[in-house]
Amino acid sequence: MPVNDVDKAYFWDNLYKNNESGWDLKSANPVFVEILKGNKILNKGKLLIPGCGKGYDALAAAESGYEVTAVDFSSEAINFAKTLAGKVSANINFIQEDIFNLGAEFENYFDSIYEYTTYCAINPERHDDFAKKISSLLKKGGVFLTILFPVEKREGGPPFGVDPLECISVFSKYLKLSYFTKDVNSIKPRKGREVIQLYTK
Ligand SMILES: C[S@@+](CC[C@H](N)C(=O)[O-])C[C@H]1O[C@@H](n2cnc3c(N)ncnc32)[C@H](O)[C@@H]1O
Repeated sequence: MPVNDVDKAYFWDNLYKNNESGWDLKSANPVFVEILKGNKILNKGKLLIPGCGKGYDALAAAESGYEVTAVDFSSEAINFAKTLAGKVSANINFIQEDIFNLGAEFENYFDSIYEYTTYCAINPERHDDFAKKISSLLKKGGVFLTILFPVEKREGGPPFGVDPLECISVFSKYLKLSYFTKDVNSIKPRKGREVIQLYTK
């Protein structure tokens, strides 16, 4: 599959269908679960999860009281996520859509946005567009939480290697960096390969 097609749903559908979804933890990200428990970082209310994959993090957030909208353009991912949430009757707004095409009804709409392993799935040439889109979706005072992975240099992708400093320069065009730590209690295979950044609009 040409990597240029990384911005097309079929590319991701094929990875899911062929069980090549090595990023999938098959459970919520424990780092995110800890953040949800602490209840201090995200603003309460409407939470967007772009590139939600199979929906584990969306479910954890809904169970913590957030009004979750979870977006992914892969039908394989969204259908799995809907079934997962349906099993426990969780109220999550799943949308099968390209993040970049989310409509005007979502502008200045979300109190918080959380992404994990979506930034590294986006063609690096589109990082600026992604940051601009995230900012446009947040309310004033809204927060964007990213757990960046993998932060080591890599050839090719996805996952594309993520440079935390490049990330700060891209997101700071549209948002204000309010917190940054390399001290992340990551799962063993991701130890030292993740950083947390929090931005405010
Ligand atoms: C590496 S996976 C991560 C999934 C999930 N966040 C997780 O941690 O398991 C990247 C996900 O982003 C989705 N994705 C990539 N680009 C997208 C886009 N432009 N719009 C919507 N979804 C996108 C893919 O379909 C895939 O499910």
